Amino acid sequence: MEPKTYFIRTYGCQMNELDTEIMAGQLAKRGLTAAADEESSDLLIFNTCSIRDLAERKVMGKLGRMGRVDKKNRIIGVTGCMAMAKKDSLFRKFPHLDFVVGTNNITDLGTVIDQVLYTKKQVFKTDDRFEENLDYLIAKRDNPIKAHVSIIRGCDKYCTYCVVPYTRGEEVSRPPDSIVEECRRLVDQGYKEITLLGQNVNSYGKDKPEWNCLFHNLLYRLDQIPGMERIRFMTSHPIDITVELMQAIRDLPSLCEFVHFPIQAGSDRILKKMHRIYTKEQYLEKVALLRKIVPHVSLGTDIIVGFPTETEEEFQETMEIFRQIRYSVAYIYAYSPRKGTPALRWKDDVPEEVKFDRLQRLMDLQNEIAVEERQQMLGNTYEVLVECFNKGGTQLKGRTRCWKKVIFEGDESLIGTLQQVHVHSYSHQTLVGDLVKPNSSLKVI
Ligand code: 5AD
Ligand code: SF4
Repeated sequence: MEPKTYFIRTYGCQMNELDTEIMAGQLAKRGLTAAADEESSDLLIFNTCSIRDLAERKVMGKLGRMGRVDKKNRIIGVTGCMAMAKKDSLFRKFPHLDFVVGTNNITDLGTVIDQVLYTKKQVFKTDDRFEENLDYLIAKRDNPIKAHVSIIRGCDKYCTYCVVPYTRGEEVSRPPDSIVEECRRLVDQGYKEITLLGQNVNSYGKDKPEWNCLFHNLLYRLDQIPGMERIRFMTSHPIDITVELMQAIRDLPSLCEFVHFPIQAGSDRILKKMHRIYTKEQYLEKVALLRKIVPHVSLGTDIIVGFPTETEEEFQETMEIFRQIRYSVAYIYAYSPRKGTPALRWKDDVPEEVKFDRLQRLMDLQNEIAVEERQQMLGNTYEVLVECFNKGGTQLKGRTRCWKKVIFEGDESLIGTLQQVHVHSYSHQTLVGDLVKPNSSLKVI
């Protein structure tokens, strides 16, 4: 029986969140409506993540618990990275599963559902390569202010610990005209902030030299769109961060001054073993150049602690990098061995308790740095995109251009607008401020 309602449970990164919005758009076009929860849905999709073991275990546990008892007449499917990593082996483990659709086959979701309905058999579709045929314009977005836009899929970097090149395939850039069209429509609909997504956005266009449009060229085109307020991008590989991109951040009014610049580790030996293709020195030189070109830029990073054979001294080098660079944002992970990756050939020899001790020490250091950063921000005025009311509170919440969360008193009419907020204190991670009246003489950052 044709399902009437759907529910998609999303795990993992922003790319998965966007893929969920695109799938929801396809289902809405088919006439389905969103169910309030998993239990009441006729079609239930788990859009999964494989980046670390914990992400996979969550879904495996959930699928196991659902079993036949919960199944009723519902159609259950798995999409996302686990679909690629495990393919049809999922059917053996979970006989109640109806379909598995890979990251490169979102377009085929409707056909796969039809096949399930007509054949009553388990169906899987998991192509290795992404074909640029996805209808991005039907994405069903819940947030009316900020949107994610995909510009490149896949990754060719093959860091030795990472499953992404295997679960999302090689890099495929999306034609620039299609990106510009989607962004123009979003701006016309009233969106104020667009985050360009890709596993490595800085490789944009390299797979299609005939387009003559690299990442910075694309940014110049997007900035031209009338009414475009803010552009962000996620995520970057340091090797592909060019001088032209740095100049674009300096020169384009809509491009926010925040760069996710993930170093992953602070020691050259570990960086080499990770196949990050840069040395610590080369990385530091790029950061210095970026800070010279865009002095008030904020930086973010990802870090893996406890990579195979990492010694305490090598971990100390990562701590030293944190002291030196002073990141605004750091996502810190304990190494998790992944099937199919080159790093699996090395023994996962850093004991779990050592990994978690390093994780904790690095987080403590990052917290100290973040507190000092917040203290330095007090007394300044920042441009804030107002997003909503603070959870359970009466204060408005938004973010600065450099990705800092700010709360302040104000009324609902300000939601979705850019305001100037004078920051006077902070509570935990959040800055607290007062709305500045228009035409005030305060300098806005
Ligand atoms: N173990 C731990 N963290 C990982 N990441 C990627 N693969 C692994 C792994 N096997 C982290 C990296 C990457 C982020 C998205 O996830 O830091 O930048
Ligand atoms: Fe994974 Fe490295 Fe590609 Fe990032 S650059 S997605 S860490 S392989």
